[in-house]
Amino acid sequence: MPGKFITLEGGEGAGKSTQAKLLASWLHEQGIETVETREPGGTPGADAVRALLLENDTPLTPMAEAHLFAAARADHVETLIRPALADGKWVICDRFIDSTLAYQGAAGELGVDIVRAINETAIGDTWPDLTVLLRMNGDAGTQRAIARDGAESDRFTSRDFAFHASVAEAFDVFASNEPDRFAIIDGGQTVDQVAEAVRAAVRERLI
Ligand code: TYD
Repeated sequence: MPGKFITLEGGEGAGKSTQAKLLASWLHEQGIETVETREPGGTPGADAVRALLLENDTPLTPMAEAHLFAAARADHVETLIRPALADGKWVICDRFIDSTLAYQGAAGELGVDIVRAINETAIGDTWPDLTVLLRMNGDAGTQRAIARDGAESDRFTSRDFAFHASVAEAFDVFASNEPDRFAIIDGGQTVDQVAEAVRAAVRERLI
């Protein structure tokens, strides 16, 4: 693909959305045409699925939930991400497949293998060129997200500490299994320090 695909991953409150915006504006300054998007969502179809996934009221089985994340992702990849990359644009996505592998796979009830199989059919060969993992220590990120959004803000933020700890551990495992794709950055630093580390990773690996 002529464009590059960058994803930002991490637990709740790790600062992904802030860093996605800062990275997009820096790339823009470098003369690179950039599309900034997020998951779940990013297209009208995927946003409709997002509403169902994040509201707390509709009971969903783990398998149904995993398929819905993958369905939203398939729409997002086919209608927005892949055409943008084919056009030479860089795509920055706040959460992508590794979130599903961590939340629904490793920390959820299905395990990583089943969730990966479902998602591989959804994304085909559209894997990220670079995945930035913003790491937080202990429950610092979850506390930040609760202060920002409230404890019951969505189906996932409201899960317990053990769930979020196992999400964090899963991201660490994915990053150590694929060191060429992942850049690990300490999300507990100041916004400017994190932004500089993200730019350094992009410069080093993609520019
Ligand atoms: P969002 O409002 O985007 O939160 P955040 O700022 O933390 O990214 O909500 C996304 C929530 O959905 C978040 O709790 C993580 C969860 N999620 C999954 O469980 N699986 C997934 O595949 C994705 C993309 C998100």
